[in-house]
Amino acid sequence: MKLERFEMERMQSTYENLVEFNLSESGVRPLSARELIEDAAGLDGLLDQPLVYTQSNGTIDLRRAIASMYSGATVEHLEVTNGGSEANFITIFNLIEAGDEVVMLVPNYMQTWGLSRAFGGAIRPWPLVEDRQAGRWRVDLDALNTLVTPRTKMIVICNPNNPTGARLTAADLDAVARAADTHGAWILSDEVYRGAELDGRLTDTMWGRSERVIVTSGLSKAYGLPGLRIGWVVGPPSLVASLWSYHDYVTIAPGALSDRLARVALQPERRERLFERTRGILRRNLPLIEEWLRGAGGFHWIRPEAGAIVYVRYDHQINSTVLVNRLREEKSVLVVPGDHFGMDGYLRVGFGESPEYNRAGLDRVRELLSTVAAVAPAS
Ligand SMILES: Cc1ncc(COP(=O)(O)O)c(C=O)c1O
Repeated sequence: MKLERFEMERMQSTYENLVEFNLSESGVRPLSARELIEDAAGLDGLLDQPLVYTQSNGTIDLRRAIASMYSGATVEHLEVTNGGSEANFITIFNLIEAGDEVVMLVPNYMQTWGLSRAFGGAIRPWPLVEDRQAGRWRVDLDALNTLVTPRTKMIVICNPNNPTGARLTAADLDAVARAADTHGAWILSDEVYRGAELDGRLTDTMWGRSERVIVTSGLSKAYGLPGLRIGWVVGPPSLVASLWSYHDYVTIAPGALSDRLARVALQPERRERLFERTRGILRRNLPLIEEWLRGAGGFHWIRPEAGAIVYVRYDHQINSTVLVNRLREEKSVLVVPGDHFGMDGYLRVGFGESPEYNRAGLDRVRELLSTVAAVAPAS
């Protein structure tokens, strides 16, 4: 099998712990185990947790807690995985075969792109439209209806979207469901940023809109707990039963400590507080980033609705990968080039850290850009 490089993750894995300012992350500053547990009894409970192979598809209590967030879902609809990435992996591993077409909303987190192709699928990109006049990224449903055909095995969306931070509306999701149902296609909706909305309104889920909906998600972004490596798949029980046996081949089970801590994070009151923490960080940091972008000049962006990322178009005459490499080598700052999403001329800038950290990193970006020619903004 030929596996193309997952450029963004490879870049992050290689450099994110080496640079002084990592602005390539899309989540907020993670919590410590102590911050999550909060009390001494809870800490003792964690230390006394036997380091067993835990229930390999997630403990019943954890699956029950997750199921309660998806209307009509039971523990049979749930597979707990090592991160949202394993949730996506076992889904594509299970469903995509040579000759299948996958209609994929782009830009997007490119894991499902590379994996679908590795398993022999062909991608049909479905571009989000950057509506500069309306100031929003929107879906083109007419385009979707021409892309989805009897050969379509799956439609992949990411909602809220990485890298734009845009949200699809309930009406958009219903239209995606109709397009899929017309041709018997699956829908994979990656909702890992759900809960990280600036306006506090929980993003509409794809769950429940078609019989062939698979939602993947996890604790890495909206909950600020990426180091737990807890993700999940919600889907029809027959598919989930099959995914479990794919999971057997990949990692067997989530970590016992992580399962336990995930149960803490998902207590309803705790979950709301975690979302509030995340949203608080976003609300504090985004205006500062926007102020910086305006001050620096030569940048254009549509305000993200969710996630600690802003997807910025720039006027400077330099390829995005060249720019990102120079930023890393000359200024020890890491951001994601638009090239990693197939869109040169853009940068994805993360703002989930402290304002001081973000500012110091961005000031180094400004230093470097002052040496690069800028062109007049395109009309
Ligand atoms: C849309 C999306 N899905 C999945 C992942 C991976 O999530 P995890 O860290 O939980 O494996 C990411 C990470 O950036 C992401 O942006």
